[in-house]
Amino acid sequence: MALTQAGSTGDHWSSRSAFILAAVGAAVGLGNIWRFPTLAGENGGGAFVLVYIGFVILLGLPLVLSEILLGRAGGEDAIGSVRNVAVHSKRSELWKGVGALQILAGFLILSFYSVVAGWVINYVFVAGEDWFGALFSGAPFSVAFAGETQEQITGRMGDLFASPGKLILLHAIFMGATIWIVASGVSDGIEKAAKWLMPTFFVLLVIVTTYGAFTGEFAQAVKFLFTPDFSKLNPIALNEALGQALFSLSLAAGGLLTYGAYITRDVNLAPTAAMIAVADTLVAILAGLMIFPIVFAVGLDPAAGPALIFQTLPIAFSSMPAGSLIGLVFFVLIFFAALTSSISLLEGPTAWVIDRFRIRRPIAAIMVGLVAFGIGVICALGYNILSDVRPLAFWDVFAENDILDALDGVTGKIMLPLGAFLVAIFTGWMADRRLIEQQTGLDGGMFMLWRFLVAWLCPIAVGLVLLLGLVPGLLGD
Ligand code: TRP
Repeated sequence: MALTQAGSTGDHWSSRSAFILAAVGAAVGLGNIWRFPTLAGENGGGAFVLVYIGFVILLGLPLVLSEILLGRAGGEDAIGSVRNVAVHSKRSELWKGVGALQILAGFLILSFYSVVAGWVINYVFVAGEDWFGALFSGAPFSVAFAGETQEQITGRMGDLFASPGKLILLHAIFMGATIWIVASGVSDGIEKAAKWLMPTFFVLLVIVTTYGAFTGEFAQAVKFLFTPDFSKLNPIALNEALGQALFSLSLAAGGLLTYGAYITRDVNLAPTAAMIAVADTLVAILAGLMIFPIVFAVGLDPAAGPALIFQTLPIAFSSMPAGSLIGLVFFVLIFFAALTSSISLLEGPTAWVIDRFRIRRPIAAIMVGLVAFGIGVICALGYNILSDVRPLAFWDVFAENDILDALDGVTGKIMLPLGAFLVAIFTGWMADRRLIEQQTGLDGGMFMLWRFLVAWLCPIAVGLVLLLGLVPGLLGD
């Protein structure tokens, strides 16, 4: 029984803070800076933010603790860990299916995540070119996208999408970097990357937010994000807020189960889980406070959807002081955040392949990464050659979605809630209570509270939101 050792791949974090950095790195990503502001903007701001924070505290945080403790108790890849805990608890081995579902979800998310990260790289080049160009022309603080009209700036995204070669090349660059880090190992790759990228990310985030606070419409942004208008809430928004909470905390897709297995015995898991959830949520809110003052400064629409950071913001940057430099910093910061997340997405399936097929880490990382790359290529083609394809046309909730959105929808709206639901049932009802209690490090009332949230609130709330989101007619509209 593997319940006394950790990490069958033999890997460990070198310290508690190394784990925290890696886990915060996994949590903080495109989800915080691209998806959260987009969703908040589309769903009217304040009410969505409030619901989101409620979900994080009541459902996300207990689940983060559940997943990292299952990982540490099981001590293997996501599938092996759940199986080990199930066997130890005298339950069916089939519970390992929870791990399998999670690994599949992480793998699918990785394939489209890398495509979107590719767009970010494109904008690093665009902003960089503008800024360095301006530097050499002797006017370093002239505007980004200098001399371009709004249509031209907006058109950049269309041009990018129309070019399969460019999309695929950028996707390849990002996936290559991800594979390289994961192939280098847990402490030599993942941990090192987090140690450099995350602190830099935070500094850049503070710089751009401060900039926005001084040059943009900060008060208006605060009002937008924190004044709830509950008439904007509907079942679909609830479903989206839950999916986003799970996605942003890296829940239900194998990442935390896998990272959990590398935590040493001496680490107290409950406060560690709390740090991850708090840091992730603060970054999401800061990202809102970074983006919306700039958007409002130029009187643009906060509900621009996925184009918010790729079209709306560049337009704003183009007319703001030092906008070119800030634009460059902004896209570099997103790139760093995305990279520390994608490595957690790749690590889940890679650890499983290492354990299951007994092959070396670099080979496993390359194999998994290449297959995910292939699926991402199909997503990228969905913007040009395959732009008429609606893979889920038969399913009204997803009928309009192109290939990437369909993958995003199925993983975010179905697989993640389902995975979270099953983790809650497993931890709350199936797993050996003594084992779980020891692992949490919680005692008395706190343990009871956590168990209540995991065993009762999470399955009921997550199950309900899953149903409401998928059957929009259920409550009337
Ligand atoms: N949490 C990351 C983000 O917000 C994405 C991510 C990383 C993720 N690992 C995950 C999402 C595991 C779901 C599951 O960008």
